[in-house]
Amino acid sequence: MRRKPIVAIDGPAASGKSTTARLVARRLGYIWVDTGAMYRALALKALWEGIGSENHERLKEMVGRTDVRLKERGGDLRVFLDGEDVTEAIRSPEVTHAVSWVCTFPFVRQAMVKLQREMACDGGVVMEGRDIGTVVVPDAEVKVFLDADVKERARRRWRELRERGVDVSLDEVEQDLTERDRKDTEREHAPLCRAPDALVVDTTSLSVEEQVDRIVGMVKVYMANRKKQIAKRKSQNLLKPCV
Ligand code: DC
Repeated sequence: MRRKPIVAIDGPAASGKSTTARLVARRLGYIWVDTGAMYRALALKALWEGIGSENHERLKEMVGRTDVRLKERGGDLRVFLDGEDVTEAIRSPEVTHAVSWVCTFPFVRQAMVKLQREMACDGGVVMEGRDIGTVVVPDAEVKVFLDADVKERARRRWRELRERGVDVSLDEVEQDLTERDRKDTEREHAPLCRAPDALVVDTTSLSVEEQVDRIVGMVKVYMANRKKQIAKRKSQNLLKPCV
């Protein structure tokens, strides 16, 4: 049994995963793992090397010689691609576009899932993505599926982009999100779907603080129950006759 649980947070784009996962991790003193950032780093390198969606072999070869790492720096998560900090570069619209095909290849997913499992194995992590509770760590102790109405998700993403100085209409953002949802849910390998044992948290009308409180509450309930179970097992062992 892991000392600390794994918290798996899945959900569609702009459902609030990153903000929520970061704050839940901070409240619990756990490590935050943004798996989308790992796929984005590979997409950035594919763009740098001029690899297109039809160049499977070149992409495969590139993945084999690429080092992707997440590091915590000053309470923030930084993404390193072959030692270079690409935290900001992976958020460009070009990368957002490229990652939607890069992440569909089984060899890409296998490489990233292997790293993600290594990061999760000791517990004490809040890992967010699309396939965490279903594929990466199906035995995660706490599973959450964050969702929100597409219009609300579009408004959030639009506000974020405007703050970053990106000039885009709300309609365009909504269309883009709908298209990303379609690609994420319909892809052949590890599509976005709710694990049967994940609790759905609809964030449409929740504040970030409420989202975080709910998930931290789930972890506390899990920990309290686990303590009870351990105590129960111990007391049962005491009752067993010694042979
Ligand atoms: O969460 P995000 O928008 O940064 O994710 C970037 C892309 O990576 C997105 O197209 C979905 C994909 N992704 C994935 O396929 N599996 C994950 N575990 C995380 C992200």
